[in-house]
Amino acid sequence: MTSLSPPAPLIKAMDLRKDYPMGDGETLEVLHGLSFTIDAGDFVAIMGPSGSGKSTLMNILGCLDVPGSGHYLLNGTDTAGLGPDELADLRNRLIGFVFQGFNLLPRKNILDNVALPLVYSGVKRSQRETVAKKILERVGLGERIQSRPSQLSGGQQQRVAIARALVNSPKLILADEPTGNLDSHTSEDILALFEELNRQGLTIILVTHEADVARHAHRIMSIIDGRIAGIIRNTRHDTG
Ligand SMILES: Nc1ncnc2c1ncn2[C@@H]1O[C@H](COP(=O)(O)OP(=O)(O)O)[C@@H](O)[C@H]1O
Ligand SMILES: [Mg+2]
Repeated sequence: MTSLSPPAPLIKAMDLRKDYPMGDGETLEVLHGLSFTIDAGDFVAIMGPSGSGKSTLMNILGCLDVPGSGHYLLNGTDTAGLGPDELADLRNRLIGFVFQGFNLLPRKNILDNVALPLVYSGVKRSQRETVAKKILERVGLGERIQSRPSQLSGGQQQRVAIARALVNSPKLILADEPTGNLDSHTSEDILALFEELNRQGLTIILVTHEADVARHAHRIMSIIDGRIAGIIRNTRHDTG
């Protein structure tokens, strides 16, 4: 009998540091050595005041940037040794991004917006439209596929952006202040959608500076001045 070791965490951050050169020979130290793990299926909120390094950390977790030192392992792969193409490949296979400003193409209808990542994955047009339509139905916009983004409400536009993030079947959704442009009622709808996607098995990391948003997560990691101030389990989600 062979004993199976537990699966590697989806995310393993080891002593992540990041500095930005300031131009005057000085450097701004933004991340001061962050270490944590996130398992597949978790829903984590990264919380902290403006300027605490949340977006810098998200860029590293999303393979959009690399740490200055330390190691970031995504799905068992250490990103430290990877070049830009390999990082892009890892990103395209594993991660969907959602941003505060939706980042939709205004001249394209929402079907084309959602299908766009599939163009880069080499999926044929007819297949792209089938997949995009199915995902738009999943986020409640199956009737609006011909609409332009400007014809939709902010909450609907964010649903389109979430559909686009899902189209390559990622393991992980990274959402940076996804409700920052939405009123509180619409924010709750979008957060309920994230909770539903998490129940379906997707790992979600959500950055916010608002406690009302973070309370939807299962764990809340607080960052202050580029350091982890604490990681707490959100008892609201404990069952039994
Ligand atoms: N590309 C960059 N070059 C220089 N400084 C940066 C850059 N990106 C972020 N910073 C600085 O790093 C700090 C943390 O920024 P950020 O990660 O965006 O924080 P948050 O998302 O928590 O508001 C801020 O002081 C910000 O000005
Ligand atoms: Mg930010």
